[in-house]
Amino acid sequence: MVSRVIPVDPFDLVIFGGTGDLARRKILPGLFRRYCAGQMPPEARIIGAARAEMDDDGYREMVGEAIGEFGGTSDIDAGKLTSFLENLSYVAIDAKGENGWRELADQMRRKVVRAFYFSVGPSLFGDLAERLNNHGLTDEHSRIVVEKPFGRDLETARQLNRDLAAFFDEGQIYRIDHYLGKETVQNLMAVRFGNMLFEPLWNSQFVDHIQITVAETVGVGGRGEYYDKSGAMRDMVQNHLMQLLCLIAMEPPARFDPDAVRDEKLKVIRALEDVEPHHIVRGQYDADPDDPEDLPDYRTAVENPKSKTESFIAMKTHIANWRWAGTPFYLRTGKRLVARSSEISIVFKDTPHSIFGEEAGRHRNVLSIRLQPNEGIKLGVTIKEPGPGGMRLMDVPLDMTFADALGPEGAENVDAYERLIMDVIRGNQTLFMRGDEVEAAWAWTDPIIEGWTKRGDVPKPYDSHSAGPDASAQLMRRDDREWREVTP
Ligand code: BG6
Repeated sequence: MVSRVIPVDPFDLVIFGGTGDLARRKILPGLFRRYCAGQMPPEARIIGAARAEMDDDGYREMVGEAIGEFGGTSDIDAGKLTSFLENLSYVAIDAKGENGWRELADQMRRKVVRAFYFSVGPSLFGDLAERLNNHGLTDEHSRIVVEKPFGRDLETARQLNRDLAAFFDEGQIYRIDHYLGKETVQNLMAVRFGNMLFEPLWNSQFVDHIQITVAETVGVGGRGEYYDKSGAMRDMVQNHLMQLLCLIAMEPPARFDPDAVRDEKLKVIRALEDVEPHHIVRGQYDADPDDPEDLPDYRTAVENPKSKTESFIAMKTHIANWRWAGTPFYLRTGKRLVARSSEISIVFKDTPHSIFGEEAGRHRNVLSIRLQPNEGIKLGVTIKEPGPGGMRLMDVPLDMTFADALGPEGAENVDAYERLIMDVIRGNQTLFMRGDEVEAAWAWTDPIIEGWTKRGDVPKPYDSHSAGPDASAQLMRRDDREWREVTP
């Protein structure tokens, strides 16, 4: 299998926050990989912009080190790295003042794509947009890229949208949700809309329920301050899990184009029912006494002994429309769980009548879409257990683990950021969130958070390296269902 690389047009990319964590870990190593793959043309330029005083050589050195550390390989082509770094320059800039803006404007070329990556806190979005405008940097070739958190509730998200809309059209604003850049997430659409097999069964008549799990083994790490004000609901559910839910549940768009896809996703979000308090389980991780690394519990990690923020959440919700009425969607995500595993499972209903009798047991088809790690798709099918001795049934997977099915190149992991940045340059917004989508997601999330805040709900402790609090398993058991096992 040969993957095709189509170079993008020459561009100037300005990374505000160009010395920050995201730039060093993801954006710059990702750009370097696209450069090596031949997708980023040699005429492209990258301009790092941040507060620190630094010259171009200092910046190149910093980026070279970041690529060495986070580039994902020890086998870096030194010649390519040198020529990549030659495309870089640096401007010390003040987002809230005038310092550096003229230098930036002088460096930018006319008539090439101009992308401005706001890899900074949302409190600076409005200032940056305004200054870009005041310095004449916003022409029809300009676009901006913004990162989550896109607000912390509906009101703040609306304000951010207004701040950006004052200077940029919606068609110029690229709101990143990096889950949409993951290979298998896009495969969700290919599986649903590229096959005849699944779509006729993709509704409440045939689907018993759907589970979406995003389990992480990492804790809050050094992000305690941000995370404790956010929690799993704001950090993961409002964006990543909702995007997955939309792709699973949406109607087929008429075309694979940005607005057609985003219109359908928006309809799903707007059809989400309110979540009953007893359909929500929040948890907070404890330390694991047997942990050889002696990692701290959640409250110690965030340095807030009274924290009521959740590092785990499980919930049941419904989509009130013709396709999905009566089919529950169970969502679950958490940190410091037993394995890193992101999976969506479509659990089909029992056959209407079993000709094999009671003893054959209950066998259900399950379509599992594995996002990470070990990306792939499995369909559980019921067959006869081999051998003599009558008709006994068993489930076996039709297994399409991509690494096996497509060979090493198929398993090659193009990082979500690489793909998304190239889409920004190409001007393709399909995998980016539209302003109304983000607002609708907050409109659903806000009352859930307000509800547990008013009730004074305290998250349930759970052991590190477990599958979350027991109450999460009970949420399923009450419905005579169970979570899929969290396995690496
Ligand atoms: C980020 C969250 O958006 O996604 C993090 O802020 C989380 O808390 C991360 O760890 C998970 O991303 P991935 O790609 O590792 O699954």
